Amino acid sequence: MTSAATTRWPALFTPHRLGPLTLPNRLVMAPMTRSRTAWPGDVPTELNARYYAQRAGAGLIVTEATQISREGQGYARTPGIHTAAQRDGWRLVTEAVHAAGGRIFLQLWHVGRVSHPVLQEGGRAPVAPSAVRARGVRVYVIDPADGTPCFLDCETPRALEEGEIPRVVDDYRRAAARAMEAGFDGVELHGANGYLIDQFLRSTTNRRTDRYGGSPENRIRFLREVVGAVAGETGAGRVGVRLSPHVTLQDMADPEMVETSLLAAAALHDAGVAYLHLAEADWDDAPEVPEDYRRALRDRFPGTIIVAGRYTPERGTAMLAAGHADLVTFGRPFLANPDLPRRIAEGLPLNPPDPATFFGGGAAGYIDYPAYGETAPVTA
Ligand SMILES: Cc1cc2nc3c(=O)[nH]c(=O)nc-3n(C[C@H](O)[C@H](O)[C@H](O)COP(=O)(O)O)c2cc1C
Repeated sequence: MTSAATTRWPALFTPHRLGPLTLPNRLVMAPMTRSRTAWPGDVPTELNARYYAQRAGAGLIVTEATQISREGQGYARTPGIHTAAQRDGWRLVTEAVHAAGGRIFLQLWHVGRVSHPVLQEGGRAPVAPSAVRARGVRVYVIDPADGTPCFLDCETPRALEEGEIPRVVDDYRRAAARAMEAGFDGVELHGANGYLIDQFLRSTTNRRTDRYGGSPENRIRFLREVVGAVAGETGAGRVGVRLSPHVTLQDMADPEMVETSLLAAAALHDAGVAYLHLAEADWDDAPEVPEDYRRALRDRFPGTIIVAGRYTPERGTAMLAAGHADLVTFGRPFLANPDLPRRIAEGLPLNPPDPATFFGGGAAGYIDYPAYGETAPVTA
């Protein structure tokens, strides 16, 4: 294992305490949807176990987004954690990662309005805080009638009744319980990138007039309730939350979101969560996060902050030195380099990622990126 003494980036290779875990380094593998679970059933397989185990050198792996319920699904071939078969499939993954010496959190996902009736029970409309359509947003589905994959525009969702919200919160709780049964070290709530929790947080997608809308305090209520319910299953020290206040993809522009995220950060600190994961860029679109926001976030959330979005070892080290972050996420570099920690530590060249194989397919572009010095494809 690389130690702080032997690397070019010592700050990235110092251990870090995260709740009950000790991470051997500060490198986090980003949650990345890869759309390679078994269909129908959305069940993780040995192929997925191999992919994650190859990347067990990360201080922490956060899995691809995983739907907590059928209602929470927005894309075909993404994994779930709402059936016994899915839980057992995930167990293959956690066992393989632990056997390889790693630590792994499951990212819990409800897409809210970013779905389509084709994916929903009985062809019903997807649910959301309010009946506000995601304009210009498309989802990838497989038509259950004939198995053809296609992209479809999101339709207008149905606003959740106030009385239904406890049921959705309970879906998160049950998913977290199943995640722990599957052997995960913890869970991350996907509160970023325009999905259900984010839809509750933003004034443009949350037009509710009940306890869950209207003011920033009310808009963070859903997140607080989900954190409380999930922490009841896992312990707060095994719950992380991902937010993306500066990302406006999925028709999510909201002039109040940055302030709301700071209120949420303070509430999450009070709840004692393990970390706050700041997704600064979903891909390459996002603006630079202002320095004063980073300081305000640190002020509201003195615990572990993870930063994500186009990081390099240089930028990550600078964030740690400035006190703006404790851990640094790598997405595409981890996707393409199973041995990324070693490559960073030793200054070795990186494999480039191939966007053509990011979503869907099989082993190619998934488990065949070579470790440094390997020549034969690992699929052979
Ligand atoms: C193929 C792919 C799939 C992604 N899927 C997810 C996801 O499931 N959940 C999530 O929160 N972010 C997702 N993201 C965003 C990444 O977690 C990360 O924030 C982004 O890639 C920026 O980091 P990078 O520049 O190091 O790649 C995805 C990104 C990529 C490239």
